Amino acid sequence: MIVAQISDTHIALDTPDADQRIRDFALTIADINALDPVPDMIVHTGDIVHNGRQDEYAQAVAILAKARAPVYVLAGNKDNRANLRAAFAAGGYLAPDSDFIDYAIDDYPVRLIALDTLSSGSNKGDFCPERVRRLIDLIDAETAKPIAVFTHHPPFEVMVGPDRLHFETPEIMSRLRQALQHSGRAVAVFSGHVHRAAAGHVGNIPATVMPSIATTLRKGGYPAQMKMRPVYHVHWFDPVWGFATETRIVGTGPSAASTCDFDAA
Ligand SMILES: [Fe+2]
Repeated sequence: MIVAQISDTHIALDTPDADQRIRDFALTIADINALDPVPDMIVHTGDIVHNGRQDEYAQAVAILAKARAPVYVLAGNKDNRANLRAAFAAGGYLAPDSDFIDYAIDDYPVRLIALDTLSSGSNKGDFCPERVRRLIDLIDAETAKPIAVFTHHPPFEVMVGPDRLHFETPEIMSRLRQALQHSGRAVAVFSGHVHRAAAGHVGNIPATVMPSIATTLRKGGYPAQMKMRPVYHVHWFDPVWGFATETRIVGTGPSAASTCDFDAA
């Protein structure tokens, strides 16, 4: 099972770099489409658009319509739940009448659980007791498969960058961590929001953060030849070894899957 993760495309229509953000997003989808094998799914971990506007979502939907794999989206702090839900209603996986954008996808060897970590008061993450209950219900709905959890805000201390804590308080993050450990079957947590790559653990669950697809908003150092190339993550699941994450640079050729048949001299 192969999951392509994208994040933080921040589509905006009236900023100086609006065209570049659209180009970064479209080139990333084209690159994922060219992977062999094509991933089983694409997960967008939020901040799809920058101002939560319907016209921004229309642009994002048009780009994602070109994807060959099924697409699942999460809400980030820049997203608007109602407009996101309306824009992606055709996917059929977003409950139309829910306060939160959280769901499980059970069609694959690994269950996908997408969480809503939005705060009404800040750009940081929140996870209220109601969302804890919803998460426990999602986890308990199936008891055999491993679970990959997707969040916009990383629920662990990110040791690179100026701010380690991306939730409003350590207590909220701890509440989410305890819920994620509840089943013992969560095998990975994949997040965005920070705009730079990072790795860590949520309790004993391995966790990664991917950079922003929007190259103009990316944090951290990149060589000059990569400045205009989006970077995304491909998560490969093996039943014995769990997830391995490949970092893909858009426009730099075939993936590891099609180049590993080398001769061992
Ligand atoms: Fe964000």
